[in-house]
Amino acid sequence: MTVNKAVIPAAGMGTRFLPATKSMPKEMLPIIDKPVLQYVIEEAVACGITDILVVTGRGKRAIENHFDYNPELEAFLKANGKEDLIDRVRSIADLANIHYVRQKEQRGLGDAIALAHDHVGEEPFAVLLGDTIIQPHDGEQPGLRQLLNVYEKLQGSVVAVHRVPEQWVSRYGIVDGSPLNGNDDLLDLKQLVEKPPVDRAPTNLAIAGRYVFNHQIFDCLKHTGRGVGGEIQLTDAMNLLAGEQKMYALAWQARRFDIGNRLEYVRCFIDFALKREDIADEIRKHIEVLLHV
Ligand code: UTP
Repeated sequence: MTVNKAVIPAAGMGTRFLPATKSMPKEMLPIIDKPVLQYVIEEAVACGITDILVVTGRGKRAIENHFDYNPELEAFLKANGKEDLIDRVRSIADLANIHYVRQKEQRGLGDAIALAHDHVGEEPFAVLLGDTIIQPHDGEQPGLRQLLNVYEKLQGSVVAVHRVPEQWVSRYGIVDGSPLNGNDDLLDLKQLVEKPPVDRAPTNLAIAGRYVFNHQIFDCLKHTGRGVGGEIQLTDAMNLLAGEQKMYALAWQARRFDIGNRLEYVRCFIDFALKREDIADEIRKHIEVLLHV
């Protein structure tokens, strides 16, 4: 089976980024001149996803407006001789079929994904965290494509992971498993542990914000009560799924930026600025002046 649908949860409260997130979802924070959520949706589209469900909360309107036509803005650009910008703002609305569902209460990531059941039905689907930008290593395929390749071959749910320094494991969901056919980067997944203490972490492989699931994850979510932090945890539902069918974890060739974390947001901004031809030289000079190098 191929995967055509993706679910993007973007309804969290973004408390780590207050006050910026008081009236705007963190998923709409810009990296240079594009909101984080647009990078995420462009990644999904580049991987062949045609149907996207965004789970929204507060700030729903800002998200919906961004991925819609804006005739007044287009008329203004035309009247002011800025036709070159019209296509850039209009094409955003044509990226994919984008649908929305509202999470009324922020009961956790698992709850947000459960809301997608009616839309997804019995198809396999991808999940891309709306606050996480994935940058593939040079020459590698987009993050989600690397996961879809595994799904298409093995037909089992698969989660992306990345290696983190051991002292950081308590910040992440960590996976346990054994290498598949001797491949250290592809695990037969046994279980997941949410934010384990350093001495109880089975590995240093942290969940990286992209997943592909068989539809049975929805049944598992129905049987998942509140877990760590009083939230319905996707990792708890994934543990139920791993008990029922084969699941995999892929240590992929990509870098993850969790922009809900202020430090990671600034890192991502600098990283992307230094890759943008139009501003990279000036930014580099500015940093050199600041650092007296
Ligand atoms: P996070 O746990 O990073 O988001 O969720 P948060 O709860 O907004 O973070 P803080 O700790 O308050 O800063 C990861 C992704 O899941 C979504 C978030 O929007 C983010 O994209 N999410 C989380 C939901 O859609 N609903 C929820 O109830 C929780």
